Amino acid sequence: MNQNAQAQQQGAAPGAAPQATQATPRADRGGEPAIVIEKLSKWFGDFKVLSDIDLTVAKGERIVVCGPSGSGKSTLIRCINRLETHQQGTIRVNGIELTDNLKNIDTIRSDVGMVFQHFNLFPHLSVLVNCTLAPIWVRKRPKAQAEEAALKLLERVRIADQANKFPGQISGGQQQRVAIARALSMTPSIMLFDEPTSALDPEMVKEVLDTMIMLAQEGMTMLCVTHEMGFARAVADRVIFMDEGEIVEENTPDAFFDHPQNERSKQFLSQILDR
Ligand SMILES: Nc1ncnc2c1ncn2[C@@H]1O[C@H](COP(=O)(O)OP(=O)(O)O)[C@@H](O)[C@H]1O
Ligand SMILES: [Mg+2]
Repeated sequence: MNQNAQAQQQGAAPGAAPQATQATPRADRGGEPAIVIEKLSKWFGDFKVLSDIDLTVAKGERIVVCGPSGSGKSTLIRCINRLETHQQGTIRVNGIELTDNLKNIDTIRSDVGMVFQHFNLFPHLSVLVNCTLAPIWVRKRPKAQAEEAALKLLERVRIADQANKFPGQISGGQQQRVAIARALSMTPSIMLFDEPTSALDPEMVKEVLDTMIMLAQEGMTMLCVTHEMGFARAVADRVIFMDEGEIVEENTPDAFFDHPQNERSKQFLSQILDR
C-alpha cells in the first residue's frame, strides 16, 4: 500500500495538514527522525521515574540502553508505544506526537514492535496463530495471506518447523524468536526490545541475539534494553546509560565500555563485568 492510500485508509486526505483531532497521515512523516523525545518526565505517584529525558533516534539507528535495575529503562521504552503515559515533555514517533489521541496511538503502535523479557506469547495458541492474530484481526488480512507471511517470518527467525507447536512445547530461545516474528508480522519500522535475553538459559542467548543482529543488518531502527556487551559492540551505534531516571552518559559502544566517563557508569560496568 502506498503512503497516500495508507493516509486515506486512516480517514485523512493525502497531504492534508495535521489537525489536533485527526490522526496524522503517514504521508507527512518523510524526513523525520524515527523517535524524538524531549524533556520527558514521568512519575508513578510521588516517585519520579524519568527525569528530563532527551533522546533522538534516527531512522535505521540502533541504540542499546543499559543501567542498573530500577533506573527507568523499561518505563522509558514502554512510554514510546504508550504502554505507559508520561506527564511532562514530548515523544514523537515518525513525526507523530504521542498524546491521548487514540488514532495516533494506534498508528504509532502499528509502526512500533515490542519484544519483552518474558516473551508474552499466548500460551493457548500455536506459534503460527500467535503470529497471525494481529495481522488478521487488527490489519484485516485474509487468513491465508497472513499465514503465508507469518511462515516467511518464522523462516527468517529459523523456526518455521515449530509453527504448529504451542509456546509451552518449545524452548525459551525459540519462544523469544517467535515473539520477534510476531512483532515483525505487523511490519513495524521500529523495534523495541526490553531485556529480550535476560530470562533465557545461557545457551539460548546467542540464537536470540543472532536474530536481533540479522534485523539490525537489515536496517531496522532498534532501541534495545540489554546488558549484552557483545551485541552492543557488534551492532549499536550508541549506548545510553541510565541511572535513577536520567540519561547519565551516552557514547559509542567501544568508548562507553572501554572508557566510561561517569562514576556511576564505571561502577555499573565493574559490577556487570564481575559477574
Ligand atoms: N507501575 C508502576 N508503579 C509504580 N512504580 C513502578 C511501576 N513500574 C515501575 N515502577 C518503578 O519505577 C522504577 C523504574 O522501573 P523500570 O522502568 O522497570 O526500571 P528498569 O527497567 O530500569 O529496571 C522502579 O523503581 C520501579 O519499581
Ligand atoms: Mg526493566
